[in-house]
This record gives sequence, C-alpha cells and structure tokens, in this order.
Amino acid sequence: MRIIEKLDEMQQQAESWRRQGKHVALVPTMGYLHQGHLALMKFVRPRADLVVASIFVNPTQFGPGEDLDKYPRDTSRDVKLLGDVGVDVLFIPHAEEMYPDQFQTYVEVKKVTQPLCGISRPTHFRGVTTVVSKLFHLVKPHTAIFGEKDFQQLVTIRRMVKDLNMDVEIMGHPIVREDDGLALSSRNVYLTTEQRRKALRLSQSLDAAEDLVKKGERSGNVILQRVREILAEDQDEDVRIDYAELRQPETLEQVDHVEGPTLLALAVFIGSTRLIDNRVL
Ligand code: PAF
Repeated sequence: MRIIEKLDEMQQQAESWRRQGKHVALVPTMGYLHQGHLALMKFVRPRADLVVASIFVNPTQFGPGEDLDKYPRDTSRDVKLLGDVGVDVLFIPHAEEMYPDQFQTYVEVKKVTQPLCGISRPTHFRGVTTVVSKLFHLVKPHTAIFGEKDFQQLVTIRRMVKDLNMDVEIMGHPIVREDDGLALSSRNVYLTTEQRRKALRLSQSLDAAEDLVKKGERSGNVILQRVREILAEDQDEDVRIDYAELRQPETLEQVDHVEGPTLLALAVFIGSTRLIDNRVL
C-alpha cells in the first residue's frame, strides 16, 4: 500500500488514474479504524480498480470544547489494517496543508444540517462538507462510501453532491454492530465498562421501536415514548438524551406518523461521550 501525504502528489496520481480510465473509490475516515470502517473498504474493493482510504482528523468539524485533541489516533495500526483489506493508497494529509493561513472557503448545506446533530453541533456539517469537497478535488474518486451510522452526514453529502453537480457516486453502507448490538464507533473507547453496558440502551430502544412498528403501531408519540423510557431507564444521571426523533430519511423533515420508511435517529450522552445510532423503520 502506498502512503501519500502531500496534496499535489495525491492530485497528480488521481489525474493519472483518470487518464488511464481507472475507476477510483474513496473511503474517507478520521482513522482509529474499526470493523465498521473495514467493512466499507471490503465492500468497495471488488467494485473499483483503485481503493483510496483517507485518514484526516478534520479540525473544522469539531466545535469548541469537543474532543478534537483527545480524538483517538493509532496510525501504525491503521496502516496494517488497511494493507490487510487490500487498500491501494492511504491518503493522510496534514492539517497545515489542508487549512493553510488565510483559508476562508466553506461548503454549507442548509436545511438537512439544521435539525438533529445540527442543533448541538451547529458548525459540524459545514466542516464535514468542506473537507469532503476538498477530498473529492484531491482524490477525484468516481465513488465514495460512507457509513449509515452517521445518517445525517450521508444525507448531507448526497445533497451537496446533487446541488453542486459533483461527479461522484455516493454509496451508504449499513451500520456494523458488536454482537450485543452496540454500533461500532471510534468514540466507544471513551466508555468505561459500566458505561458501555448502558450504551446498549441505544440499540435496545431501536429494536423496541422496530417491534412496535412491526406490530402495527404508527403513532410517533407512542414509539418515541417507548424509546425514551428505555434510554432513560432508572432516571440514570449518566445517560442524557440529546435527541430521539422520527424523520423522513431523505429530507430529514419531522414525521408524526410512521407511514413509509421513517428514520428513528438517536443521540445520547453516556457520561461525557455522545453516541449516535439510528434505524430506518
Ligand atoms: O465520518 C467521518 O469519519 C468524517 O466525518 C469524514 C466523513 C471522514 C469527514 O471528516
């Protein structure tokens, strides 16, 4: 696996692949890879001539007081894992080159970034869309793949690509979970054993909502009440619901009744760790 750090080297390589008619797939990550990331790599591997994984802990998507400084990193382990799943190029740019002095251009998607995570993280999606646009210009992929755990991120990127006529196919990949249901996330390492047990309430509440819908329940209030009961069990002070909402999966508009595919989206603090999870009911 080749490692590229410099932006001009990445761009020249991408240009040369394009001239040779190669199909390039990009898997953008912030590193500290887990099986969820590797599932994305394995999924695109047979669908592309060249697979590029990027690792960049993007400062512009972290708000003040968030975990940018303590975000977990282990590049040598990541390099080994990426080599094992057959990634061709690891692109690992430096923040000083990505955001030099005088940087002042951002890509902002409006409506779909406002609810859900947009309320407690008002500048987050602007950082994501800006860095993903930059990665698209640098790697020039035909396909890019993102996990559905960050469902609002995926909706936002699809919107950006459509609105700005970007010539990239966006693929989503189902959430990868531990055997007990916990959605894989680099932030799970922040959880103590006790908190990890409590974090299972997210997937348990999604299961319960799915069961209710399967049994014919359609009222958003009834479904969300059950979800909140499970999340807030024992009125545990260590567990704080940021949001539990039903939304239309493409527009992210609020839904009161489950009449078609409906996104149940959760963000919950377990101690100081904010976890997200979701399911389309
Ligand atoms: O999902 C992530 O890891 C990040 O938001 C992304 C897409 C790599 C952009 O920094």
